[in-house]
Amino acid sequence: MRLARAAVHDGSSSALEIQSVEVADPGPGAVLVRMGASGVCGSDRHVLDGDWTLPSPTVMGHEGAGTVEAIGAGVTDVAVGDHVILSWFYPCRRCVACLSGKAYVCTGSRSEECVLPDGSTALSRSGERIFPYLAVGSMCEYAVVPESGAIRIPNDVPFDVASLIGCSIATGFGAVTHDAAVEAGSSAVVVGSGGVGLSIIMALKLVGANPIIAVDRSAEKLEAARRLGATHTVEAGPDLADRVRELTGNGAAYAFEAIGRVETIESLPGLIAPGGKAIIVGLPPQDTPVAIDALALAESGKSLIGSNYGSTVPGRDFPRIAELYLAGKLPVDELISHRIPLEEVNEAFDAMRRGERARSVIVF
Ligand SMILES: NC(=O)c1ccc[n+]([C@@H]2O[C@H](COP(=O)([O-])OP(=O)(O)OC[C@H]3O[C@@H](n4cnc5c(N)ncnc54)[C@H](O)[C@@H]3O)[C@@H](O)[C@H]2O)c1
Ligand SMILES: [Zn+2]
Ligand SMILES: [Zn+2]
Repeated sequence: MRLARAAVHDGSSSALEIQSVEVADPGPGAVLVRMGASGVCGSDRHVLDGDWTLPSPTVMGHEGAGTVEAIGAGVTDVAVGDHVILSWFYPCRRCVACLSGKAYVCTGSRSEECVLPDGSTALSRSGERIFPYLAVGSMCEYAVVPESGAIRIPNDVPFDVASLIGCSIATGFGAVTHDAAVEAGSSAVVVGSGGVGLSIIMALKLVGANPIIAVDRSAEKLEAARRLGATHTVEAGPDLADRVRELTGNGAAYAFEAIGRVETIESLPGLIAPGGKAIIVGLPPQDTPVAIDALALAESGKSLIGSNYGSTVPGRDFPRIAELYLAGKLPVDELISHRIPLEEVNEAFDAMRRGERARSVIVF
């Protein structure tokens, strides 16, 4: 057992408290990771703002990377000293989906319950159990995760970069390459240019999409979008569909929503040309259905695709993305606008609520 500083959500307040929590030793099949860095993702904000219900109290953070400090019995994939990226959807490796190479729709994972495969958690506070968000809880100096949720990467990838590969980058890269399967030379529009939207833009540049149209309310975000690969930027407004048609002729081949707002998700079909694909990446609050004109969608042969974690297979995709970074093809470091200590996590969420900062990363 050891003590660690962590950002704890009590289940009601939208502000996190920095507290000392107890971290148990890793049991069979589990890995103790000393956190190097944790990104501050829009999904953490949804939880703090009460958009989604979750077991609590919770140690927040699901976008993390660090060093293996100890391994439990039977662990063979990683060794002490390895650098790992944590996956917020650890695969069970046994269900039909896992056996079919589709770990992203694993039915045996208990990540969403925020527990280890045996239903336990390694975190507590004065005898009270604490849940690590999505079985990661990266806003803490230590995490205990299942072996299948700790993916070894080359030691020369900095932790701040590696942490972002664990959520926003994998989500954006996978939404573009797996879910949309964007071809070189095809047009794309990205509605919302925060951490996830900018990750989509980087991946679109990598695969050679053209034009790449970034949309946001914030001038700061649109500037970052241009830096990372957008060929055009459009300030969000009621004339968005007209602006996209002006730039693409008949609508984009691909449209991504990366905010999580009902209205912008509903606007997606109007941004794409007949036969185009609209990809929902942003996540709205729970129990908020969207309205789609199904007749118009079907008659124009448009597709509406839900994208979760970019259909990432962590063991395949994290090392692949890390190598793209090392090869200079995916400038993940340029997504990081702020490196902060754990104590400044609430300021990072407040800035996010105001639409500021590309990505804050907590560095331990
Ligand atoms: N599908 C997945 O697997 C997955 C993974 C990670 C995050 N997400 C979701 O993606 C969404 C974005 O996350 P993020 O970390 O990038 O958050 P973020 O806050 O960094 O980005 C949101 C962006 O949307 C912009 N925005 C807000 N309202 C707007 C509007 N009306 N029009 C245009 N732009 C607007 C903001 O200025 C900001 O730049 C969240 O809903 C998050 O939960 C989904
Ligand atoms: Zn499985
Ligand atoms: Zn995330």
